[in-house]
Amino acid sequence: MTAISARPSPDADTIPAAVSAALRTLDANLDTFGDRYPADTTVGNRYPLRAPAGGQPVGGNVGWTTSFWPGMLWLAHDLTGEERYRSAGVSHVDSFVARVANRIDLDTHDLGFLYTLACVIPARRVGDASARRAALAAADHLMTRVLEPAGIIQAWGDLRDPRQRGRTIIDSLMNTPLLYWASHTTGDERYAAAAGRHCRQLRQHILRPDGTTFHTFYWDPGNGAPVRGETEQGQADDSCWARGQAWAIYGFSLNHRHTGDPSLLVAAQTCADYFLARLPADQVPYWDLEFTDGSGQERDSSAAAIAVCGLIELADNLTDTVRADSYREAADRILRSLAEHYAASRHPTSNALILHGVYDKPKGIGVDEGNLWGDYFYLEALVRASDPGWTSPW
Ligand code: GLY
Repeated sequence: MTAISARPSPDADTIPAAVSAALRTLDANLDTFGDRYPADTTVGNRYPLRAPAGGQPVGGNVGWTTSFWPGMLWLAHDLTGEERYRSAGVSHVDSFVARVANRIDLDTHDLGFLYTLACVIPARRVGDASARRAALAAADHLMTRVLEPAGIIQAWGDLRDPRQRGRTIIDSLMNTPLLYWASHTTGDERYAAAAGRHCRQLRQHILRPDGTTFHTFYWDPGNGAPVRGETEQGQADDSCWARGQAWAIYGFSLNHRHTGDPSLLVAAQTCADYFLARLPADQVPYWDLEFTDGSGQERDSSAAAIAVCGLIELADNLTDTVRADSYREAADRILRSLAEHYAASRHPTSNALILHGVYDKPKGIGVDEGNLWGDYFYLEALVRASDPGWTSPW
Protein backbone atom coordinates (compact mmCIF):
# COMPACT_ATOMS: atom_id res chain seq x y z
CA MET A 1 0.00 0.00 0.00
CA THR A 2 1.44 3.39 -0.96
CA ALA A 3 1.61 6.03 1.75
CA ILE A 4 0.16 9.44 0.96
CA SER A 5 3.17 11.67 0.58
CA ALA A 6 2.22 14.69 -1.52
CA ARG A 7 1.43 17.82 0.46
CA PRO A 8 -1.02 20.58 -0.43
CA SER A 9 0.72 23.19 -2.51
CA PRO A 10 1.49 26.39 -0.62
CA ASP A 11 0.45 28.29 -3.75
CA ALA A 12 -2.80 30.01 -2.79
CA ASP A 13 -3.36 31.06 -6.41
CA THR A 14 -3.72 27.51 -7.73
CA ILE A 15 -7.51 27.30 -7.48
CA PRO A 16 -8.37 30.81 -8.81
CA ALA A 17 -5.88 30.32 -11.66
CA ALA A 18 -7.42 26.93 -12.45
CA VAL A 19 -10.92 28.48 -12.48
CA SER A 20 -9.80 31.21 -14.90
CA ALA A 21 -8.16 28.68 -17.21
CA ALA A 22 -11.26 26.46 -17.16
CA LEU A 23 -13.54 29.40 -18.00
CA ARG A 24 -11.32 30.37 -20.95
CA THR A 25 -11.65 26.84 -22.34
CA LEU A 26 -15.42 26.81 -21.78
CA ASP A 27 -15.76 30.13 -23.60
CA ALA A 28 -13.90 28.76 -26.60
CA ASN A 29 -16.01 25.59 -26.54
CA LEU A 30 -19.20 27.63 -26.34
CA ASP A 31 -18.24 29.18 -29.67
CA THR A 32 -17.41 25.81 -31.21
CA PHE A 33 -20.08 23.50 -29.78
CA GLY A 34 -22.97 25.82 -28.98
CA ASP A 35 -26.04 23.58 -28.65
CA ARG A 36 -24.28 20.55 -30.14
CA TYR A 37 -22.55 17.89 -28.07
CA PRO A 38 -18.90 16.91 -28.00
CA ALA A 39 -17.85 13.25 -27.96
CA ASP A 40 -17.53 11.31 -24.69
CA THR A 41 -13.75 11.63 -24.74
CA THR A 42 -11.06 13.56 -26.50
CA VAL A 43 -9.14 12.03 -29.37
CA GLY A 44 -5.51 13.14 -29.23
CA ASN A 45 -6.53 15.49 -26.38
CA ARG A 46 -9.25 17.30 -28.38
CA TYR A 47 -13.01 16.72 -28.31
CA PRO A 48 -14.52 16.21 -31.72
CA LEU A 49 -18.27 16.65 -32.09
CA ARG A 50 -20.30 13.57 -31.15
CA ALA A 51 -20.46 11.10 -34.02
CA PRO A 52 -23.86 10.49 -35.65
CA ALA A 53 -25.68 7.62 -33.88
CA GLY A 54 -29.19 6.28 -33.33
CA GLY A 55 -30.61 8.37 -36.16
CA GLN A 56 -29.14 11.55 -34.66
CA PRO A 57 -26.84 13.84 -36.66
CA VAL A 58 -23.29 14.81 -35.81
CA GLY A 59 -23.23 16.57 -32.44
CA GLY A 60 -26.59 14.96 -31.52
CA ASN A 61 -27.98 14.16 -28.09
CA VAL A 62 -27.23 10.45 -27.63
CA GLY A 63 -25.24 8.53 -25.03
CA TRP A 64 -24.90 9.05 -21.30
CA THR A 65 -22.57 12.07 -21.19
CA THR A 66 -24.25 14.88 -23.14
CA SER A 67 -25.59 16.64 -20.03
CA PHE A 68 -22.08 17.26 -18.72
CA TRP A 69 -21.74 20.01 -21.33
CA PRO A 70 -24.74 22.08 -20.14
CA GLY A 71 -23.78 21.03 -16.60
CA MET A 72 -20.46 22.84 -17.05
CA LEU A 73 -22.26 25.90 -18.38
CA TRP A 74 -24.38 26.00 -15.22
CA LEU A 75 -21.21 25.70 -13.12
CA ALA A 76 -19.73 28.61 -15.08
CA HIS A 77 -22.88 30.55 -14.22
CA ASP A 78 -22.37 29.68 -10.55
CA LEU A 79 -18.79 30.93 -10.73
CA THR A 80 -19.44 34.16 -12.56
CA GLY A 81 -23.15 35.01 -12.39
CA GLU A 82 -22.90 35.89 -16.09
CA GLU A 83 -26.17 35.82 -18.00
CA ARG A 84 -24.61 34.31 -21.14
CA TYR A 85 -23.88 31.04 -19.28
CA ARG A 86 -27.44 30.93 -17.93
CA SER A 87 -28.96 31.38 -21.37
CA ALA A 88 -26.51 28.85 -22.84
CA GLY A 89 -27.60 26.33 -20.18
CA VAL A 90 -31.28 26.99 -20.88
CA SER A 91 -30.72 26.60 -24.62
CA HIS A 92 -30.02 22.88 -24.11
CA VAL A 93 -33.42 22.18 -22.57
CA ASP A 94 -35.22 21.70 -25.91
CA SER A 95 -32.85 18.94 -26.93
CA PHE A 96 -33.50 17.02 -23.70
CA VAL A 97 -37.25 17.61 -23.98
CA ALA A 98 -37.14 16.09 -27.48
CA ARG A 99 -34.93 13.21 -26.35
CA VAL A 100 -37.33 11.98 -23.70
CA ALA A 101 -40.46 12.75 -25.75
CA ASN A 102 -39.14 10.85 -28.77
CA ARG A 103 -37.68 7.97 -26.72
CA ILE A 104 -34.15 8.54 -28.05
CA ASP A 105 -31.57 6.29 -26.36
CA LEU A 106 -33.42 5.96 -23.05
CA ASP A 107 -32.61 2.31 -22.22
CA THR A 108 -30.24 3.30 -19.44
CA HIS A 109 -30.15 4.20 -15.77
CA ASP A 110 -28.04 7.22 -16.78
CA LEU A 111 -31.23 9.25 -17.14
CA GLY A 112 -30.18 10.56 -13.72
CA PHE A 113 -26.91 12.04 -14.95
CA LEU A 114 -28.62 13.34 -18.08
CA TYR A 115 -31.73 14.99 -16.66
CA THR A 116 -30.37 16.19 -13.30
CA LEU A 117 -27.84 18.45 -15.00
CA ALA A 118 -29.70 19.38 -18.18
CA CYS A 119 -33.24 19.82 -16.83
CA VAL A 120 -33.51 19.75 -13.02
CA ILE A 121 -31.07 22.67 -12.79
CA PRO A 122 -33.07 24.98 -15.11
CA ALA A 123 -36.33 23.78 -13.54
CA ARG A 124 -35.05 24.81 -10.12
CA ARG A 125 -33.08 27.90 -11.03
CA VAL A 126 -35.23 29.62 -13.60
CA GLY A 127 -38.55 27.84 -13.12
CA ASP A 128 -38.38 26.35 -16.63
CA ALA A 129 -41.65 24.38 -16.84
CA SER A 130 -40.73 22.34 -19.90
CA ALA A 131 -37.45 21.33 -18.23
CA ARG A 132 -39.41 20.20 -15.16
CA ARG A 133 -41.84 18.14 -17.28
CA ALA A 134 -38.96 16.51 -19.18
CA ALA A 135 -37.08 15.69 -15.96
CA LEU A 136 -40.24 14.13 -14.51
CA ALA A 137 -40.78 12.12 -17.71
CA ALA A 138 -37.16 10.89 -17.39
CA ALA A 139 -37.76 9.98 -13.73
CA ASP A 140 -40.88 8.03 -14.76
CA HIS A 141 -38.86 6.22 -17.40
CA LEU A 142 -36.16 5.42 -14.83
CA MET A 143 -38.87 3.94 -12.58
CA THR A 144 -39.72 1.44 -15.36
CA ARG A 145 -36.23 -0.01 -14.81
CA VAL A 146 -36.95 -0.97 -11.18
CA LEU A 147 -36.98 -4.75 -11.08
CA GLU A 148 -39.08 -6.58 -8.53
CA PRO A 149 -38.67 -8.51 -6.31
CA ALA A 150 -35.01 -7.37 -5.94
CA GLY A 151 -35.95 -3.69 -5.92
CA ILE A 152 -32.89 -2.74 -7.97
CA ILE A 153 -32.67 -0.41 -10.96
CA GLN A 154 -31.32 -2.24 -14.01
CA ALA A 155 -28.36 -0.35 -15.38
CA TRP A 156 -28.00 -1.02 -19.04
CA GLY A 157 -29.95 -2.06 -22.08
CA ASP A 158 -33.34 -3.45 -22.92
CA LEU A 159 -35.03 -4.93 -19.86
CA ARG A 160 -35.52 -8.22 -21.75
CA ASP A 161 -31.82 -8.59 -22.67
CA PRO A 162 -30.69 -11.73 -20.78
CA ARG A 163 -27.07 -10.45 -20.55
CA GLN A 164 -28.17 -7.26 -18.78
CA ARG A 165 -31.29 -8.46 -16.94
CA GLY A 166 -30.96 -7.99 -13.17
CA ARG A 167 -27.62 -6.16 -13.48
CA THR A 168 -26.83 -2.93 -11.75
CA ILE A 169 -23.61 -0.95 -11.46
CA ILE A 170 -21.94 1.20 -8.85
CA ASP A 171 -22.37 4.38 -10.96
CA SER A 172 -26.14 4.08 -10.46
CA LEU A 173 -25.76 5.78 -7.09
CA MET A 174 -25.32 9.03 -9.00
CA ASN A 175 -28.59 8.52 -10.89
CA THR A 176 -30.86 8.28 -7.85
CA PRO A 177 -30.83 12.05 -7.11
CA LEU A 178 -33.23 12.47 -10.06
CA LEU A 179 -35.70 10.25 -8.19
CA TYR A 180 -35.29 12.10 -4.89
CA TRP A 181 -35.91 15.36 -6.77
CA ALA A 182 -39.02 13.86 -8.43
CA SER A 183 -40.46 12.97 -5.01
CA HIS A 184 -39.60 16.39 -3.67
CA THR A 185 -41.20 18.28 -6.55
CA THR A 186 -44.35 16.12 -6.85
CA GLY A 187 -44.89 14.95 -3.27
CA ASP A 188 -45.08 11.37 -4.59
CA GLU A 189 -42.90 9.24 -2.30
CA ARG A 190 -42.64 6.29 -4.69
CA TYR A 191 -39.61 7.72 -6.49
CA ALA A 192 -37.59 8.26 -3.31
CA ALA A 193 -38.63 4.88 -1.91
CA ALA A 194 -37.34 3.13 -5.06
CA ALA A 195 -34.08 5.09 -4.94
CA GLY A 196 -33.50 4.32 -1.26
CA ARG A 197 -34.20 0.62 -1.69
CA HIS A 198 -31.86 0.35 -4.69
CA CYS A 199 -29.13 2.12 -2.75
CA ARG A 200 -29.48 -0.18 0.27
CA GLN A 201 -29.19 -3.22 -2.02
CA LEU A 202 -25.95 -1.81 -3.40
CA ARG A 203 -24.61 -1.12 0.07
CA GLN A 204 -25.25 -4.74 1.05
CA HIS A 205 -23.91 -6.43 -2.08
CA ILE A 206 -21.83 -4.22 -4.38
CA LEU A 207 -19.73 -2.96 -1.44
CA ARG A 208 -17.40 -5.76 -0.38
CA PRO A 209 -16.44 -6.41 3.26
CA ASP A 210 -12.89 -5.06 2.64
CA GLY A 211 -14.21 -1.62 1.59
CA THR A 212 -13.77 -2.17 -2.15
CA THR A 213 -16.60 -2.25 -4.67
CA PHE A 214 -17.66 -4.45 -7.54
CA HIS A 215 -18.21 -2.51 -10.73
CA THR A 216 -21.40 -4.40 -11.58
CA PHE A 217 -23.59 -6.87 -9.70
CA TYR A 218 -26.38 -9.25 -10.77
CA TRP A 219 -29.56 -10.08 -8.95
CA ASP A 220 -31.73 -13.04 -9.93
CA PRO A 221 -34.63 -11.39 -11.75
CA GLY A 222 -36.93 -14.26 -10.74
CA ASN A 223 -36.50 -14.50 -6.99
CA GLY A 224 -34.53 -11.29 -6.32
CA ALA A 225 -31.55 -13.09 -4.77
CA PRO A 226 -28.10 -11.48 -5.05
CA VAL A 227 -26.02 -13.53 -7.50
CA ARG A 228 -22.53 -12.29 -8.34
CA GLY A 229 -20.26 -9.35 -9.05
CA GLU A 230 -18.60 -8.82 -12.40
CA THR A 231 -16.49 -6.07 -13.89
CA GLU A 232 -16.99 -4.34 -17.21
CA GLN A 233 -14.41 -1.54 -17.15
CA GLY A 234 -12.10 -2.70 -14.35
CA GLN A 235 -9.02 -4.92 -14.45
CA ALA A 236 -10.73 -8.02 -13.00
CA ASP A 237 -14.02 -9.09 -11.42
CA ASP A 238 -12.39 -9.00 -7.97
CA SER A 239 -10.31 -5.83 -8.47
CA CYS A 240 -11.47 -2.33 -7.56
CA TRP A 241 -12.10 -0.09 -10.57
CA ALA A 242 -10.92 3.38 -9.56
CA ARG A 243 -13.82 5.34 -11.03
CA GLY A 244 -16.32 2.93 -9.52
CA GLN A 245 -14.83 3.53 -6.08
CA ALA A 246 -15.03 7.29 -6.68
CA TRP A 247 -18.68 6.99 -7.76
CA ALA A 248 -19.25 5.04 -4.52
CA ILE A 249 -17.73 7.76 -2.31
CA TYR A 250 -19.84 10.44 -3.93
CA GLY A 251 -22.93 8.30 -4.52
CA PHE A 252 -23.24 6.87 -1.01
CA SER A 253 -22.67 10.37 0.41
CA LEU A 254 -25.43 11.85 -1.76
CA ASN A 255 -27.85 9.04 -0.99
CA HIS A 256 -27.16 9.55 2.71
CA ARG A 257 -27.98 13.24 2.32
CA HIS A 258 -31.30 12.40 0.66
CA THR A 259 -32.35 9.53 2.94
CA GLY A 260 -30.69 10.29 6.28
CA ASP A 261 -29.71 6.58 6.47
CA PRO A 262 -26.52 6.55 8.62
CA SER A 263 -25.34 3.23 7.13
CA LEU A 264 -24.86 5.01 3.79
CA LEU A 265 -22.55 7.58 5.39
CA VAL A 266 -20.52 4.74 6.90
CA ALA A 267 -20.38 3.11 3.45
CA ALA A 268 -19.08 6.34 1.92
CA GLN A 269 -16.35 6.57 4.58
CA THR A 270 -15.35 2.96 4.04
CA CYS A 271 -15.03 3.56 0.29
CA ALA A 272 -13.14 6.82 0.84
CA ASP A 273 -10.64 5.22 3.22
CA TYR A 274 -9.80 2.48 0.74
CA PHE A 275 -9.54 4.93 -2.17
CA LEU A 276 -7.23 7.28 -0.26
CA ALA A 277 -5.01 4.42 0.94
CA ARG A 278 -4.46 3.34 -2.68
CA LEU A 279 -3.48 6.74 -4.09
CA PRO A 280 -0.04 7.06 -5.63
CA ALA A 281 2.38 9.83 -4.68
CA ASP A 282 0.78 12.46 -6.92
CA GLN A 283 -2.71 11.71 -5.49
CA VAL A 284 -4.35 10.81 -8.82
CA PRO A 285 -5.28 7.12 -9.01
CA TYR A 286 -4.41 4.64 -11.69
CA TRP A 287 -7.48 3.45 -13.59
CA ASP A 288 -7.81 0.40 -11.36
CA LEU A 289 -6.83 0.62 -7.70
CA GLU A 290 -4.93 -2.63 -8.13
CA PHE A 291 -2.21 -0.52 -9.76
CA THR A 292 0.08 2.00 -8.20
CA ASP A 293 3.41 3.71 -8.92
CA GLY A 294 5.73 1.63 -11.05
CA SER A 295 2.89 -0.28 -12.72
CA GLY A 296 3.25 1.58 -16.01
CA GLN A 297 -0.56 1.84 -16.20
CA GLU A 298 -2.55 4.99 -17.03
CA ARG A 299 -4.07 7.33 -14.47
CA ASP A 300 -7.80 8.08 -14.41
CA SER A 301 -7.99 11.80 -13.66
CA SER A 302 -11.80 11.62 -13.81
CA ALA A 303 -11.85 9.25 -10.83
CA ALA A 304 -9.79 11.81 -8.93
CA ALA A 305 -12.17 14.65 -9.82
CA ILE A 306 -15.26 12.65 -8.80
CA ALA A 307 -13.57 11.64 -5.54
CA VAL A 308 -12.80 15.28 -4.68
CA CYS A 309 -16.50 16.15 -4.93
CA GLY A 310 -17.44 13.03 -2.98
CA LEU A 311 -14.93 13.69 -0.21
CA ILE A 312 -16.19 17.24 0.25
CA GLU A 313 -19.82 16.05 0.26
CA LEU A 314 -18.87 13.35 2.77
CA ALA A 315 -17.01 15.79 5.01
CA ASP A 316 -19.95 18.20 4.98
CA ASN A 317 -22.18 15.47 6.39
CA LEU A 318 -19.92 14.20 9.18
CA THR A 319 -20.26 15.29 12.79
CA ASP A 320 -16.74 14.02 13.55
CA THR A 321 -14.86 17.22 12.69
CA VAL A 322 -11.39 15.63 12.84
CA ARG A 323 -12.38 13.03 10.29
CA ALA A 324 -14.22 15.60 8.19
CA ASP A 325 -11.12 17.80 8.11
CA SER A 326 -8.96 14.88 7.03
CA TYR A 327 -11.29 14.23 4.07
CA ARG A 328 -11.28 17.94 3.18
CA GLU A 329 -7.48 17.96 3.27
CA ALA A 330 -7.34 14.88 1.06
CA ALA A 331 -9.77 16.53 -1.38
CA ASP A 332 -7.57 19.63 -1.43
CA ARG A 333 -4.42 17.60 -2.15
CA ILE A 334 -6.08 15.73 -5.01
CA LEU A 335 -7.62 18.86 -6.54
CA ARG A 336 -4.34 20.76 -6.44
CA SER A 337 -2.56 17.88 -8.11
CA LEU A 338 -5.20 17.87 -10.86
CA ALA A 339 -4.93 21.64 -11.32
CA GLU A 340 -1.13 21.65 -11.28
CA HIS A 341 -0.35 18.52 -13.27
CA TYR A 342 -3.42 17.36 -15.21
CA ALA A 343 -5.10 20.57 -16.37
CA ALA A 344 -5.28 20.71 -20.14
CA SER A 345 -4.54 24.46 -20.19
CA ARG A 346 -0.87 23.53 -20.46
CA HIS A 347 -1.63 21.62 -23.65
CA PRO A 348 -1.85 24.25 -26.38
CA THR A 349 -4.25 22.45 -28.69
CA SER A 350 -6.56 20.77 -26.18
CA ASN A 351 -10.19 21.83 -25.67
CA ALA A 352 -10.62 19.72 -22.51
CA LEU A 353 -10.30 20.91 -18.91
CA ILE A 354 -8.23 17.98 -17.66
CA LEU A 355 -6.35 15.24 -19.48
CA HIS A 356 -5.17 11.73 -18.62
CA GLY A 357 -8.48 10.02 -17.96
CA VAL A 358 -9.47 6.49 -18.89
CA TYR A 359 -12.95 5.59 -20.11
CA ASP A 360 -12.68 1.85 -20.71
CA LYS A 361 -9.22 0.31 -20.67
CA PRO A 362 -10.30 -3.28 -21.34
CA LYS A 363 -12.00 -2.15 -24.56
CA GLY A 364 -9.32 0.42 -25.40
CA ILE A 365 -11.77 3.36 -25.41
CA GLY A 366 -10.69 6.82 -24.30
CA VAL A 367 -7.43 5.66 -22.73
CA ASP A 368 -5.19 8.51 -21.52
CA GLU A 369 -7.59 11.13 -22.87
CA GLY A 370 -9.82 13.86 -21.49
CA ASN A 371 -13.48 13.02 -20.95
CA LEU A 372 -16.67 15.00 -20.36
CA TRP A 373 -17.41 13.67 -16.87
CA GLY A 374 -13.82 14.27 -15.76
CA ASP A 375 -14.14 17.86 -16.96
CA TYR A 376 -17.55 18.34 -15.32
CA PHE A 377 -16.49 16.99 -11.90
CA TYR A 378 -13.17 18.86 -12.03
CA LEU A 379 -15.12 22.08 -12.56
CA GLU A 380 -17.61 21.10 -9.83
CA ALA A 381 -14.64 20.46 -7.53
CA LEU A 382 -13.25 23.93 -8.35
CA VAL A 383 -16.67 25.44 -7.62
CA ARG A 384 -16.87 23.57 -4.30
CA ALA A 385 -13.34 24.73 -3.41
CA SER A 386 -14.16 28.33 -4.35
CA ASP A 387 -17.56 28.49 -2.65
CA PRO A 388 -18.18 26.18 0.34
CA GLY A 389 -21.82 27.38 0.39
CA TRP A 390 -22.48 26.21 -3.19
CA THR A 391 -25.88 24.53 -3.73
CA SER A 392 -25.45 21.12 -5.32
CA PRO A 393 -27.78 20.02 -8.11
CA TRP A 394 -27.43 16.35 -7.07
N1 GLY B 1 -20.82 5.84 -15.80
C1 GLY B 1 -19.96 5.24 -16.77
C2 GLY B 1 -18.54 5.37 -16.45
O1 GLY B 1 -18.16 5.88 -15.40
O2 GLY B 1 -17.74 4.96 -17.28
